[in-house]
Amino acid sequence: MATDPFDPAAFRALGHQIIDLLTDHLAATATGLGKVLDLPPPDQRLASVAELDGRGGNDPVHWVKRLLAESNHLHDPRYMGHQVSAPLPMLALFEAVGALLNNGMAVYEMGPVQTAMELRALQWMARVLGMPAASDGVMTSGGSLGNLTALLAARQRHGDAWQKGGHDFCVLASEQAHYCVDRACRILGLSDQGLVTIPVDAQFRMRHELLPAAIEQARRNGRTPIAVVASACSTATGSFDPINAIADVCQQHDLWLHVDGAHGAAYALSPSLRPLLAGIERADSVVFDAHKMLQTPALVTGVLFRSAASCAAVFTQQASYLFAKKAEVEWWNRGHRTIECTKRAMGVLLYVAVAVLGEDRLRQDLERGVALARALAARVRGDAAFELAVEPQCNIVCFRHRPRDIAGSALDAHNASIRVRLLAEGTFYIVQTTLPQGVFLRTTLMNPRTTEADLDAMLAAVRSAAS
Ligand SMILES: Cc1ncc(COP(=O)(O)O)c(C=O)c1O
Repeated sequence: MATDPFDPAAFRALGHQIIDLLTDHLAATATGLGKVLDLPPPDQRLASVAELDGRGGNDPVHWVKRLLAESNHLHDPRYMGHQVSAPLPMLALFEAVGALLNNGMAVYEMGPVQTAMELRALQWMARVLGMPAASDGVMTSGGSLGNLTALLAARQRHGDAWQKGGHDFCVLASEQAHYCVDRACRILGLSDQGLVTIPVDAQFRMRHELLPAAIEQARRNGRTPIAVVASACSTATGSFDPINAIADVCQQHDLWLHVDGAHGAAYALSPSLRPLLAGIERADSVVFDAHKMLQTPALVTGVLFRSAASCAAVFTQQASYLFAKKAEVEWWNRGHRTIECTKRAMGVLLYVAVAVLGEDRLRQDLERGVALARALAARVRGDAAFELAVEPQCNIVCFRHRPRDIAGSALDAHNASIRVRLLAEGTFYIVQTTLPQGVFLRTTLMNPRTTEADLDAMLAAVRSAAS
């Protein structure tokens, strides 16, 4: 590397080398012939990465090569694991643009065009969800922070809890809600009884008919319910809570309805899948992760609020060195509305994805993922050696290998060991989840490169690992 790290010619030369390496990586991962993941024990990997001695002089290309070789390859068609997208390659280039410009997002002056693009991206999300034109939103680093932000807004409705606190509040959510909802409640200071969990039905959807009794019980326990969180969908099985029925209860009891649509909100783009989200337009707030289903790099999360006023009221605080006026009058200073001060210009990624690709292309990929999930479920159902946990409602499929002579904890250990073997081979990346029936293998089919042939190969690999 040149002695001057800001030398434009050196930057250009390095950039060309890196683009070539990324392009080769994209081509190689398309074949599905290499390893999805090479996963030595963590201590071994740590030992292979030298301690920093502060002297410098390392070749940056060496590190690019190591990153490409030793990472989890989400563009490989046999990556079927966690709900993180195989991002649009074009957006990796926009990440580089954003990193070089390094325009943060607290105040308009620090990210002028980025602020406008973030707001347009949020308006697009709100329109897709069918939220009112007067809604507002913010972008946060991930759905976990997004859910916390929404619940802060729900709390704020109760007598300026931002100033005065309020430890006797509680939130209701299904027992299948993402763990970050429980975390958010604890961060809000609501402690052990801050989250009231509602049982689910056989399809892992919230049993909404139990909500009124749970609300009454919480009140008898000295708690003031402030919000219900509907999962759209749940993480483990991809199950959609009945939003309309939950919205009715919220209306009757004057509760804030928050929809955790981190994974599933994107289905609002598809007329055939939109019914899964029926009622989402009635929500007071929605979390919508573009880095899950809209193919942006992580993290790009929209938190949409039905009322612009409640969005602006979440963090009612003075910071005179940043903000001259109140949030309500300054749509352009986004830092009023988020926990983060300096924040990546994440809205750019979603804005560009929609502006360049268009909604149709994104919709097709969403529908394709669900079609693949149905195809996988059909294969699992048709093979006596496998068991489907639940009929997939979207692109998440949970199944297990079930030899006739194994049950209970031995069956759990059997399936867990199948995954250990697959990880050791590195040819497929699938994950696992524990449901009331036991341990299941879990796949999320959101990689546009995955085909039905890859599903067949994955099931064959599971069978072989099982034997
Ligand atoms: C339903 C749901 N909510 C929230 C999250 C957390 O989102 P993030 O990983 O963007 O923080 C996830 C992540 O998988 C999720 O599935």
